[in-house]
Amino acid sequence: MFAGMDLRYVMCVLFCAAALTVSAVLGQNERSDVYRWTRQSLPELLVRHTAPVNTPLFIGKEEKEDKGTTICGIECQSSLPPMDQVKQERILGYETMYENGTRTHTDVSLLGFNMTSGAHTSFHTRRKRQVYGVDGRFVISDSHFITNYPFSAAVRLSTGCSGVLISPKHVLTAARCIHDGKDYLESSRKLKVGVLQLKIKRGRFGRRRGGRRRSGGEEKAEEQLMEGGEEKNSIDGERGRRGGAGRRHRGGRGGKEGVTDRFEGRRRKLRTLSRIRRSTETGKQPVFRWTRVKQTRIPQGWILSMSSNNSVSSDYNYALLELRRPVKQRYMELGVAPAAAPLTRIHFSGFDADKSLLDGHGDEKVIYRFCSVAKESNDLMYQHCDAQPGAMGAGVYIRLRQEEEQKGKWQRRVIGVFAGHQWVDVEGGDEKDFNVAVRITPLKYAQICQWIRGDPSLCKEI
Ligand SMILES: *[C@@H]1O[C@H](CO)[C@@H](O)[C@H](O)[C@H]1NC(C)=O
Ligand SMILES: *[C@@H]1O[C@H](CO)[C@@H](O)[C@H](O)[C@H]1NC(C)=O
Ligand SMILES: *[C@@H]1O[C@H](CO)[C@@H](O)[C@H](O)[C@H]1NC(C)=O
Repeated sequence: MFAGMDLRYVMCVLFCAAALTVSAVLGQNERSDVYRWTRQSLPELLVRHTAPVNTPLFIGKEEKEDKGTTICGIECQSSLPPMDQVKQERILGYETMYENGTRTHTDVSLLGFNMTSGAHTSFHTRRKRQVYGVDGRFVISDSHFITNYPFSAAVRLSTGCSGVLISPKHVLTAARCIHDGKDYLESSRKLKVGVLQLKIKRGRFGRRRGGRRRSGGEEKAEEQLMEGGEEKNSIDGERGRRGGAGRRHRGGRGGKEGVTDRFEGRRRKLRTLSRIRRSTETGKQPVFRWTRVKQTRIPQGWILSMSSNNSVSSDYNYALLELRRPVKQRYMELGVAPAAAPLTRIHFSGFDADKSLLDGHGDEKVIYRFCSVAKESNDLMYQHCDAQPGAMGAGVYIRLRQEEEQKGKWQRRVIGVFAGHQWVDVEGGDEKDFNVAVRITPLKYAQICQWIRGDPSLCKEI
């Protein structure tokens, strides 16, 4: 076993050197990861009418891992007619559920709606000949990185899901984490959001770690990880292409690693150790600080679904939570992915571990991963990013450059929500499993922006 590890190490040294040379030559290519920011105007979402609806029963069912249902995915949807304004308005209507368990329904109308912007017009598929791209999955356990941007924008829901902070008091997550399509989940009644913050912890975890505090390094962490992943991937070319079968069955395993089998765990640990273990805090440990949710918003497109065979429900698997009070953490802004070019790389961070974290005493660690998108439409992205059920609701983001400054600093924007593992119909009546993410379209952006800011005139442009 040790011999095996040594060999692995030697191979790494050899291949990493090669990979570095290659990436120096292809330096230009590296930049394709950064998208150009393009301004666009948005349709306005006007509130027509809000009325109370009967109080939910909170009997929605938690998602089972082997549910076995197949969603109407990209191919299935591309055969549907484009949505007209009436249907689109109905789907963009929404429900608000308050802390006291009551709810309202809101009807909206769209101003400046363009059929083409809502239609399932085009989709990109990554062809076999294209390089599949690299991917990586990293356990962020370093107390400094985990409580700093971008990893710190990932939050945990008391229902066991993940989410992302998109304003000081708003969290974007998956609708499935709150509502099963028919009713709210029992666990969503007293919903709370956990944000990781550093606290001095005494006793069991109170041992001091040496080293000095580095400043300004946290933003670079992600980049180091991505480069590390690239080197690694050149050794392990299978990673990106592996089917979902192995992954599917891993979710249920227990043990210390919780979500990974031992082999994967060790391999990741090597990476984690070499890249991230530069702990710099002295005696401080990340702990969850929980905040109550004041209200929850879910698009009607998700709720209609199961009662009326709504084939677009998977496109509307997102929800916005408003916290009772703002948190101090830096948030990640919402955006819309450029539609013109295929997405080459997405990132997301979440809490993969199982629901044992509910009492706030689990492993406080974020799992960060990046990968390429296998197939995408205006509304959905399929990928094989290695993610577990607890990551459902995590914010999928890309890195963008401002239009004007070619060499300027890039920024991150949340452009989707990780919706979990799904079986989808593909060509020829086959079913295939993918990790699916819901994409933020201009219309969804307009809706969420209106939820956050209240005034649609503040949401005319992105
Ligand atoms: C519940 O809260 C909402 C929003 O704060 C309020 O409008 C409504 O009247 C409350 N309902 C009850 C029954 O307390
Ligand atoms: C609708 O969108 C299409 C394609 O994006 C564009 O060519 C057209 O001008 C738009 N129409 C309106 C009324 O905005
Ligand atoms: C939904 O679809 C199934 C099978 O496609 C059908 O049996 C059922 O009647 C449909 N339900 C509604 C409400 O349309």
